[in-house]
This record gives sequence, structure tokens and C-alpha cells, in this order.
Amino acid sequence: MTIAIEPVTDPHALAAALSGRMLIDGALVPAVSGRTYAVINPATGQTIATAPFGEAADVEAAVASAAAAQKAWAKLPARRRGALVAECGRLLAGRVEELGRLVALETGKALRTESRGEASVLADVFTFFGGLGSELKGETIPFDPAMLTVTLREPIGVIGAIIPWNAPMMLMAMKIAPALVAGNAVVVKAAEEAPLAVLRVAQVMNTVLPKGVFNLITGFGPECGAPLVAAPAVRKITFTGSVETGRAVYRAAADKLIPVTLELGGKSPMIVMADADLDRAVAGAVAGMRFTRQGQSCTASSRIFVHDSIHDAFVDRLAAAVDRMVMGDPLDERTDIGAIVSKSQHERVCGYIEAGRAAGAGVRACSALPDDPALAGGLFVRPHVFTGLGNDSRLAREEIFGPVCCVIRFRDYEEAIAAANDSDYGLAATLWTRDLKTALDAAHRLEAGFVQVNQNLVVQPSLSYGGIKQSGLGKEASLEAMLEHFTHKKTVILNMT
Ligand code: NAI
Ligand code: MG
Repeated sequence: MTIAIEPVTDPHALAAALSGRMLIDGALVPAVSGRTYAVINPATGQTIATAPFGEAADVEAAVASAAAAQKAWAKLPARRRGALVAECGRLLAGRVEELGRLVALETGKALRTESRGEASVLADVFTFFGGLGSELKGETIPFDPAMLTVTLREPIGVIGAIIPWNAPMMLMAMKIAPALVAGNAVVVKAAEEAPLAVLRVAQVMNTVLPKGVFNLITGFGPECGAPLVAAPAVRKITFTGSVETGRAVYRAAADKLIPVTLELGGKSPMIVMADADLDRAVAGAVAGMRFTRQGQSCTASSRIFVHDSIHDAFVDRLAAAVDRMVMGDPLDERTDIGAIVSKSQHERVCGYIEAGRAAGAGVRACSALPDDPALAGGLFVRPHVFTGLGNDSRLAREEIFGPVCCVIRFRDYEEAIAAANDSDYGLAATLWTRDLKTALDAAHRLEAGFVQVNQNLVVQPSLSYGGIKQSGLGKEASLEAMLEHFTHKKTVILNMT
């Protein structure tokens, strides 16, 4: 089956056109079984498309295609592979509107504040990694003057990539761009909630890449994700998602003795010192909590430690700023905050809000639910700012993945550092101060993979990104990530004596 490749900015039409297909061996195909499941617009509850319910037979076909294609792909000069990946970036950059609208429709993330941005970053990730082909260098080693001893960076083979729904295109790009440039072929398992925009990306990229180098399959974790991890030809798994599923993936990979990269959750602290620029810190909390993404971010600054002397003013200003944000139709340009991705996530988030209220915490419910009757069936949640909860409370310990944060009062710096580090997670952390000495001290002591002072940026192509503790294993987004996680080093000795 062929689907027009011209940009389609009506996301409903595009969703319908992509309905029931995934991409295996260069072709848009249904599941072998013919089974499908519904793809829902979370802002309305309406079905916008179906996606193939992929199972072991589909995984097998995708992995076989990737294994066959990988050999010739790896033989291309590295810069040539990079040029093709960069060309994908160029094509995707021309489709920011199309892809932004489609991902907004299927995930509920607002177009203006989130989805369009995700589509731009997607293109940038391919552009960035596309330029790194010639960096797949080895070393020469002075082992013996009579011999030439070198290391070569070789591709691993077929990579299985399992991705979530919160930023599906961008998180997929962080995995497949370096994997492809390094000479691997990939099979991506889309998140069940968000199979459409990534399929469109795969379709566009397959106009440039050789058939089979990039396959995209859809389906659920146990039926489709697990067989991908178990497939004998898959020699590495890269996963982003929950700690629980990450553990299951790690265990299954251990049986095969294959490496994994895991980007799991977070409970990232933000420490606001008494001397911080309050306006900037409040703006940083709004951005850091990803309220525009309904808080559905692994990096979300969901534990905000604020010095006693400015705590109340900070809470007032934060609540007022979030209150001004407009919740509504993700495709409406006026909307700041969209809908939660699925019923189960909605229930989960509401459960945490109830638990926080039951714990007798102070709470500000901000913004207002949309009053448009067309959105009556939508999965909207008002952002909640909790106060008065300790760092030992459930809301401060567990990843909520919703628009819910805890502002926690502290009196001295040591107390704040200790509380910030008292977490199972270690993905990101920020500190807000004008004092350089405190900034440097905290940068050394905060237990996280990504520490920022006086800003709260998201993951950036070129900067290694990844957590410690329960937040995961390995890094993404950088040259080092490509070298360490998508190649292996072969030592070669040429004895010419
Ligand atoms: P999940 O970790 O279950 O799903 C992520 C991906 O793993 C999906 O593609 C899913 O189909 C796949 N998967 C599930 N079970 C699998 C298995 N046994 N083998 C192989 N693949 C499997 O996450 P879910 O259910 O979407 O969300 C639950 C929670 O996870 C969220 O509330 C949030 O706390 C966290 N999460 C963290 C993300 C991050 O960016 N680190 C992204 C999404 C969720
Ligand atoms: Mg799950």
C-alpha cells in the first residue's frame, strides 16, 4: 500500500491515511494477524485511527529485514551514512507543521507550546548526528614497533529501540540517529498510545534510507516489545520508559547477554536559594515542571526546595503563573496546556492528587478545565502545586508524570542538598542562586546525570544525557553516546615481521 508523501497538515486526514499500518522492510503493512487497536485523541476521547497489534510474527519479519539490510548499510562509508541521516533531518525540518499537528492529535500535547517544538528538535537530532559519521574513529596503540595495532569502531548489528509516548518522535530520534550513523539497522517499537507521528517519520525517512535499515512496529509491551527484546538477531536494546518496564527489559536482555541503554524516570530536584532571582526561578519552575506537557516528562522538576525566607512568595508567584496558562484543545494556537495521554495515566495522576489532599497538604489547583463541550470527554487535569509535604511523602518520592509538583521549604543549604539527594532517582537537578561558590559546590554534590544552575533546559543534542540510580543506565544525545552505546571496539594487530 502507498500513502502520499506530500505534507498533510490536516492531522485527522493524515491519521486516517496512516491507519492500520506499520513499516516493515520498506513497506507500510498491517499485522500478520490483521489485528488492530484504536488510537485515541485524548483531548476528545475519539478514535482517530487504528494501529496494527504487532506480535511475534511481525517482530520476526522486522528483525529479519533489519538483519538483511544491516550488512550493506555498514559497508557504506560512515560519512555517506551520516549524509543520508542528515538528509532525513532536512526532509523532516520541512514537515514540522505536519508532524507537530499529528503528534498533538495523538498525544494531547499542545501544538504551540510543545508539539511543534518536538518536531523541530526531531529534525535537529538527525542533522546533528548526521554530521558525526567521520567521528567513528579508532586509535593507534604503541603495542610493538614491529606491529600496527589499531582499534576499529564497528556497528553492533540490529538494534531494538523501545520508546514511550511523551515525546515519541524526539526520543526515537535520540536512539535511531546515532544507531544508524554508526552502521546499525534499527527496529523501533512505538508506544501503544502514540504510533502515528513516528510512523510518518519512518515513512519519510524510508524515502532516503535503504529498505530494511529502519523498521517501525506497533503494539503492546508484552506481545510486541518483549519479543523484540528476545529476538536472537537483536544485539542491543535501547529503552525509554518506566523503571518497572526498564527492569523487565534489562532482565530479558541479561538472558541473551546483550547490552542495554535505559532512560527511566526521575524525581528531579530544583533548589531555590534565598538569593535567587525569584522571577527567573519561578519561570524556571514552570518550564522545568513541563506544565505545558501536563508534567509528562522524565526530567520534570517535581521536587522544588525553596528557602524559608522566599517560600511563600515563590508559591504565590508559581501558582499565579500556572493559573495564567490556558488549558484547551491541543490544536488551538491559544492553548498552553493540553490533555493527559491516556485513561490509565489520567487515573494515576488523579490518584496522586487525591493522596496529596488526603495527606492534608496545602494545595493550589491552577488554570481552569476547558469549557468547550467538544472537549467534555477529554483527559484534562488541573495543575496542582502542593506545599507542606515532606520529602518523605509519597508525592515527593514517586514519579507522578503529571502536572503535580511539591514545593518543600528548607532552612539551610546542607538540609536542601541532603533532601535533594534523598531520592531513588538521579536524572536531573537544578540550583538557583547568585553565589558562584554555592553553585559550584552543588554542581559537585547533586546526585544526577544533568545539573544546571539558573536554567532548566531540556535534553540538548550534543550534551550527554542520562541518569544514575533508578533513572537508568547509559547516556544519549551526544557523540560519546553514539560511540559507547552503538558501536563496539575491535582491536586489530597487524604483525608484519
Ligand atoms: P512503560 O515503561 O510501560 O512503556 C514504555 C514502552 O515500553 C512502551 O513502548 C511499552 O509498550 C513498552 N513495554 C511495556 N512493557 C514491555 C515489556 N514487557 N517488554 C518490552 N517493552 C515493553 O511506560 P507507560 O506504561 O507508558 O507509563 C508508566 C509510567 O512510566 C509513567 O507514569 C511514567 O512514570 C513512566 N514513564 C517514563 C518515561 C520517561 O521518559 N522516562 C516515558 C513514559 C513513561
Ligand atoms: Mg506500562
